[in-house]
Amino acid sequence: MTTTFQPPCRLLMGPGPINADPRVSRAMSAALVGQYDPAMTGYMNETQQLYRQVFRTHNEATLLVDGTSRAGIEAALVSLVAPGERVLVPMFGRFGLLLKEIAERCGAEVHTIEAPWGEVFTPEQIEQALARVKPHVLALVQGDTSTTMCQPLEGIGALCRRHGALFYTDVTASLAGNELRVDDWQIDAATAGLQKCLAGPSGSSPITLSARAVDKIMQRAHIEAGLRQSSDEAGHAQPIRSNYLDLSQILKYWGPERLNHHTEATAMLYGARMCAALLVEEGMDQAIARHQLHGQAMAAGLTAMGLELFGDQQHRMHNVVGVYIPEGLDGEAVRRCLLEDFAIEIGTSFGPLHGRIWRIGTMGYNARRDCVFTTLAALEQVLGLFDVTVPAGEAVRAAHRIYSTSTLQDTPHA
Ligand SMILES: Cc1ncc(COP(=O)(O)O)c(C=O)c1O
Repeated sequence: MTTTFQPPCRLLMGPGPINADPRVSRAMSAALVGQYDPAMTGYMNETQQLYRQVFRTHNEATLLVDGTSRAGIEAALVSLVAPGERVLVPMFGRFGLLLKEIAERCGAEVHTIEAPWGEVFTPEQIEQALARVKPHVLALVQGDTSTTMCQPLEGIGALCRRHGALFYTDVTASLAGNELRVDDWQIDAATAGLQKCLAGPSGSSPITLSARAVDKIMQRAHIEAGLRQSSDEAGHAQPIRSNYLDLSQILKYWGPERLNHHTEATAMLYGARMCAALLVEEGMDQAIARHQLHGQAMAAGLTAMGLELFGDQQHRMHNVVGVYIPEGLDGEAVRRCLLEDFAIEIGTSFGPLHGRIWRIGTMGYNARRDCVFTTLAALEQVLGLFDVTVPAGEAVRAAHRIYSTSTLQDTPHA
């Protein structure tokens, strides 16, 4: 064992995590302050204000849940869904299955509808299921990285209101790379992560909750015994079934009460704050356009190489593309060669797509021209090494053509 620690430098072009923006990494190494230092509570307030802009919401209840994205998902579901309540999960990939699993563990009566992997739902399909199931909560992924599909969410909130459901969405992989309008689209709860389009490392989960969602959560508000101010402040008879992820307590930690629920993960908060600050400085529309441009360039390059793209291209996420592994080729051997010889990581896939497609991301700090060109050029060389005939130079040329017609300025990187 040695104190020298030097992980290899890789270009992370999979479906996330991606390389963190160096400005985020630098922020995370800043001096720690105490949990209730006015500087710290000031950063917490700033972080809330920044994420309101990222989520495009006025929700007061906009904050961070400590833990990776699934901590945010679990916090939302365990706090919003009381045991025995009905949850509807339209599933179009692995992360719909995850929502189902988590909702079941919350003790919900879970109903699902399924779309084939590579497709999304129509609003009519969702409305029919809402009318049939009458769920307390609709839980729907926006961008499911397992299939690269982006479910349109506009209009779904209005359907939920009409059918008396709260609307929760997992935007871990899509936020800041694809349009999301929490208030305009009447979304009651949304959770994310840093390691995709937000250009940070995994470990913090931004969340936003509408007033309707907060009301429901506060119906089961419970303060743990050791924190109660007086003995007559009784706990709730059926409190939220997690202490760490109990949003009724977490909200009081982020609110004026500053309830001493947990010790905020200070370095993660510094990083999460910087992720949002960089996006707000860039502008959300510009960030989404950047992801769209680099995603298009990557897709054009892969197609020019003679590879076939996976799924409904009209509904593909801007920030990740699935591509079929050529017949007879060992996809894992290609990924290994890219990693070992070119230091580039691309993604494998799960479930029915395992061994059939690679997933290539262009997101966050790596939504850049140089990353797209480097990945396309390297993949072309590696395919050549594996005796796959690829038209020489066409991939980079196709990506170049996309860039030459774009007016988008590349964002400055530090
Ligand atoms: C859509 C979606 N939801 C949830 C997760 C889980 O996130 P984490 O691994 O940060 O807990 C991921 C991770 O890839 C994801 O893409």
